[in-house]
Amino acid sequence: MKLPYQRLYLRMSLYIGAALLAFIGLAVASVVAVASLQLESYIATRQSTLGQTAADVLARGGRPALEAWLRTDAAIPAGVTLFILDENGDDILDRRIPPSYVNFVRHSVVNTPELPTSNYRPVRLAPQLIGPDHRAYAFLVLPNQISVWGSPATTAGLLIAALLVIAIVAWLIARTVGRPIGELQVAVRELALGHTEARVPAAITGRRDELGALAADFNSMADKLAALLASRQQLMGELSHELRSPLARLQAALALAEHRQSIGATERERIEQEIQRMNLIIGDLLRFSRLDAAAAIVRRLVRLDTLLAELIRDEEIEAAAQPCRLALGATPGLEMIGDPQLLRSGFENIVRNAIRHAPADSVVDVVAKRDGNRLRVEILDRGPGVSPELLTRIFDPYVRAPKSPDDNSGTGLGLAIARRVFEVHGGSVVATTRPGGGLTVSVELPAAELS
Ligand SMILES: Nc1ncnc2c1ncn2[C@@H]1O[C@H](COP(=O)(O)OP(=O)(O)OP(=O)(O)O)[C@@H](O)[C@H]1O
Ligand SMILES: [Mg+2]
Repeated sequence: MKLPYQRLYLRMSLYIGAALLAFIGLAVASVVAVASLQLESYIATRQSTLGQTAADVLARGGRPALEAWLRTDAAIPAGVTLFILDENGDDILDRRIPPSYVNFVRHSVVNTPELPTSNYRPVRLAPQLIGPDHRAYAFLVLPNQISVWGSPATTAGLLIAALLVIAIVAWLIARTVGRPIGELQVAVRELALGHTEARVPAAITGRRDELGALAADFNSMADKLAALLASRQQLMGELSHELRSPLARLQAALALAEHRQSIGATERERIEQEIQRMNLIIGDLLRFSRLDAAAAIVRRLVRLDTLLAELIRDEEIEAAAQPCRLALGATPGLEMIGDPQLLRSGFENIVRNAIRHAPADSVVDVVAKRDGNRLRVEILDRGPGVSPELLTRIFDPYVRAPKSPDDNSGTGLGLAIARRVFEVHGGSVVATTRPGGGLTVSVELPAAELS
């Protein structure tokens, strides 16, 4: 049998079990210790010469001397009380017999006149002192306190034992659970404050229980978060760098025009071109950063086959300029939940890439079908494809295959945007080399669950 939380469960059971055992052990030990202590002084008193001394005092001075001796001179050990009872069972100093002993004293201690008719002689459990007036007194030694809970000493011992055990077990549990949770809390708070380097120490992640696993998970989450933030920061840096060069060219062109006191057609065209390009970059940047706040995407029923058909129709002009042909093969009724505009822009980026890389008079195929509860879309071209080491990296922002330096056609954000779009829809996208040459980009998205 495999328990889901075996390690922590075992440890807790062990601590609580040990606590119970220790408590029972300590309790028994304290009862035994106190009881044997009392018994010892009780027996010692009964065996001592105290009784003989009392008898001597009584013989010499009668009851008044005995009273005086008991009040002041008698050396009575701690833990016991010495009563001297007259024939009525009353103490000679008029002290009250503890209520729990009254019956015992009446029946087994005091020398009641025996019935002459009976041949039964009960044992008297106390020695007798006989006075000069022939009156008998019972010499009774009683332990000070005997009750269910024992003496105050027993109770105190029990309480101390309980407190000790509770303190030790609480300390063990705090060490087992509290410390790692504390460390985790510190790391979480650090991370929340924006310190992406915050990690739980290896002493905690190395534990082989659930808390160790949790700490390790936290660390890998923090790693991922740090990497994400770093790449984002890098992206922003590169973007601003990218924006600066068309701006510089724009400024130079304008300065030239100003110098000539007129703007020629070439400069004008150049300025417009650069402005166009800046618009493109800024547009991509905005779309990309908006996708980071993916919480706010529209959730609508989307017919993917219709969406792709519309997209292909709109891209036909561009394809004609290449020139290449677009062919769509989609199963009708491919439905999913999502943001139609975002999905369109995702597919558009992939289809445009395919068109741009397609050789003259080739065909770019777009195939869409349902596969279980997933929708699969493939965009296949016969272009140069991508080297294997770049196949995954082209989806990173700003990764572009090395080309002629004057290639200004794109910003390298197209596929990064596409991947984000599909990811926020619970899907994914991968690129593979197409057998026979070219690139295959495969998109997978969750199909709408229609009840
Ligand atoms: N169908 C394809 N065939 C060959 N290479 C491709 C294809 N699609 C993408 N690539 C490579 O992947 C790189 C990244 O593509 P991506 O769409 O992200 O950027 P881009 O097309 O260069 O710029 P833009 O942001 O304008 O789309 C491209 O520069 C190109 O080298
Ligand atoms: Mg592109």
